[in-house]
Amino acid sequence: MGMHSSDLPDFPWDLLAPHKARAESHPDGILDFSIGSPVDPTPELIAQALREAADSPGYPKTGGTPTLRAAIREHYRSVRGVRPPDRHAILPTIGSKEIVATLPSLLGLTTGDVVIHPSIAYPTYALGARLAGATPVPADRADALPRGTAGRARLLWLNSPSNPTGRVASVEELRGAVTWARERGIVVASDECYAALPWTEPWATAGVPSVLDPRVNGGDLTGILALYSLSKRSNAAGYRMAWICGDPLLIGPIHEIRRHMGMMMPGPVQWAMGTALGDETHVDAQRERYRARRATLAGAVEQAGYVIDDSQAGLYLWVRAQDGRGDWAIVADLAAKGILVAPGSFYGESTHVRVALTASDAAVAAAALRLAAE
Ligand SMILES: Cc1ncc(COP(=O)(O)O)c(C=O)c1O
Repeated sequence: MGMHSSDLPDFPWDLLAPHKARAESHPDGILDFSIGSPVDPTPELIAQALREAADSPGYPKTGGTPTLRAAIREHYRSVRGVRPPDRHAILPTIGSKEIVATLPSLLGLTTGDVVIHPSIAYPTYALGARLAGATPVPADRADALPRGTAGRARLLWLNSPSNPTGRVASVEELRGAVTWARERGIVVASDECYAALPWTEPWATAGVPSVLDPRVNGGDLTGILALYSLSKRSNAAGYRMAWICGDPLLIGPIHEIRRHMGMMMPGPVQWAMGTALGDETHVDAQRERYRARRATLAGAVEQAGYVIDDSQAGLYLWVRAQDGRGDWAIVADLAAKGILVAPGSFYGESTHVRVALTASDAAVAAAALRLAAE
């Protein structure tokens, strides 16, 4: 790996600390919408499965148990409506953040290689590129790439629904990206961890398109990887339940390296994850909780004179001010009301803030009152 800890970016959340302090000084306390960390209880079915599997003296399988792999394949069939990858082309990951950060290294990228990621994005895509010694390049379209970078690109990240914008990519858009990348031998990694939370049509009815959809990839997974996580859909970020899957020729070597590294999902978590994937009732219930919070927050934010862009799916509202004042100014204005949000600058732009839906019903109701008050 080509990176020293002194090369790490400032942990961006430290920059928010003064605004957090301001929000905390509100007489009725802080209402925190800055981090997308789930707040509702882990469903009992999942906790129960973890307890059932607590006796675990032997090492777990890096590639996951057959039961877990079968559950992942069934998830793609019945929930996403796509043909699942081969069972050998599925790898559990310890949450998805670690695989986002290590994927460029595990694919063998190095100095001189380029990793393309969405221009407004979860920062770990760029960090993972730097960890490998490669160069992250933010771009949303092939014609927006800086000159000379396309020829050095080895990996293209897609993220739909997006963190932070909530934008959803259509089948046509995904197909265009896959076709462009394939023609150049660039691997496509699609981070789909918010797929269970579509709000607007056509996504609410048809579902969020996956890179595994044959309409996207023509029935061929060559050069394609898909990531998914149960952190959000199952209130289980603490369990670290996620996976990567796709092209067997890419997953095979990644599996081998991870076996040597000891990057194994703990056995009891594998069992709990298989159980969680077998139940959609808790996902539906959680979606309805977020739907209600989203409606309250969206109404209050718009009443207070802000504009919501994108935000078609996922866990965030992507909000700007009508007068065009910058993200940090909005963060400061809301912090004065005791409401903490994340500035767009954390994600590569400077006119929006990100408002997470991961707060309790009480916090959401209180925020709506504070936004309505002068
Ligand atoms: C786009 C995206 N990918 C991956 C992750 C990582 O989630 P986890 O490591 O909990 O699976 C997040 C978390 O917020 C995210 O927003």
